[in-house]
Amino acid sequence: MATAETETPKPNPDPATGEVDLFDADFARCPHAVYARLRAELPVARQSFIGNPVISRYEDVMWALRHPEIFSSEMDLEMALGTERPMIPQQIDPPRQTRFRKLLDPLFSRKRMQDLEPDIRRHARDLIEGFAGRGSCEFHREFAVPLPCTAFLRLLGLPAEELDLFLELKDGIIRPPAPPDRAAELRTQTGRRIYAYFDQALDERLDRPREDLLTWLTTTELDGRRLTREEMLDICFLLLLAGLDTVTATLGCSIAFLASNPAHRRRLVEDPARIDAAVEELLRYETPVTAVPRVLKRDVEVAGVQLEKGQLVTLLLGAANTDEQRFARADQVDFDRERNKHIAFGAGPHRCLGSHLARMELRVALEEWHRRIPEYRIAPGEVPLYTPGIREVRHLPLVFGPEA
Ligand code: HEM
Repeated sequence: MATAETETPKPNPDPATGEVDLFDADFARCPHAVYARLRAELPVARQSFIGNPVISRYEDVMWALRHPEIFSSEMDLEMALGTERPMIPQQIDPPRQTRFRKLLDPLFSRKRMQDLEPDIRRHARDLIEGFAGRGSCEFHREFAVPLPCTAFLRLLGLPAEELDLFLELKDGIIRPPAPPDRAAELRTQTGRRIYAYFDQALDERLDRPREDLLTWLTTTELDGRRLTREEMLDICFLLLLAGLDTVTATLGCSIAFLASNPAHRRRLVEDPARIDAAVEELLRYETPVTAVPRVLKRDVEVAGVQLEKGQLVTLLLGAANTDEQRFARADQVDFDRERNKHIAFGAGPHRCLGSHLARMELRVALEEWHRRIPEYRIAPGEVPLYTPGIREVRHLPLVFGPEA
């Protein structure tokens, strides 16, 4: 269990080496000071352990995201997350990626996602009723995980009872519960289980078609032909990773912020019409998907630093989203911010496919939560526990009601 910490955080980036540790626990909890130092002093820093360049200014990150012909998403498989082939469409480049996006975009359109809203709202209410009377909850386990993950399983046409299996598979890839020297092996094993699971699920749809996304994959056409089984699997693999973790992480970061900032929380209770804006502002300020990787297709200069073809580059979305050159009072959370052009969902051709679903889930969750639980805070003596990489708040104990 997390308790109040007494140790002084280690300097990050390290003044001796100039390297930044993006997997440091303090960075995961509160990355803003590190972001500011990087933008001001090391706009192209070096990541500790890996040694690759880390780009932090909004202008540079945006430029990279919009130039996939230089900043490619096609990684070597050694850098892959337990996969045997690139995930589609995230690890392929235009023009092939563009054709897959044209195919997949309508499935995740705003209109289709609106149709899912009543079900998701009902589920949010049921979950909240499960603990509201108790006066406390562990937000991650009791709300942030089940709400979006159940919605995701329904969307794909998978049974809700398999939630625990999917969480295990997703964590086995994103944060393998193994020592660092065994992490790659566990990822590979988990990857094989993911392929095998979806292979069987697709076979079942071919035998008995249903009204679900997996059946759609078996019948849809691209360039006048059916998708190959490998293409179907490479899409399913990505949806599992991208769809299960990200909304959970954003819910955790958002509620942890609101629980610690009563004026912001009260604003949402008194004026629920601001919730849409709050979702965007918390996505910007917290940026749960802190970074995305790219590989250089040719030599290029960024912020005066020469980078070489073949290098792995980290684009620090969180630092870009808090860049004062792009956002006025970037270090403040302002639910009245106008033209909030954050890049928490990425930008350019790989911009998030699931953003309409994610936004709807986040809005519904914050509406239902504040309607039923207007007053809440972090349980006394507890410290929320953030994970590095994708900033999930793994441990978020809350107590409800006015402060004593
Ligand atoms: C708040 C929640 C979410 C956040 C913050 C988020 C963030 C992102 C980001 C930053 C990217 C860009 C990756 C890159 O440039 O390499 C991305 C891509 C993607 N996201 Fe999301 N995402 C969220 C929710 C979802 C959901 C719910 C789904 C699926 C149901 C999803 C599916 C995808 C897919 C398929 C891509 C790859 C798109 C492509 O490469 O063309 N995301 N997301």
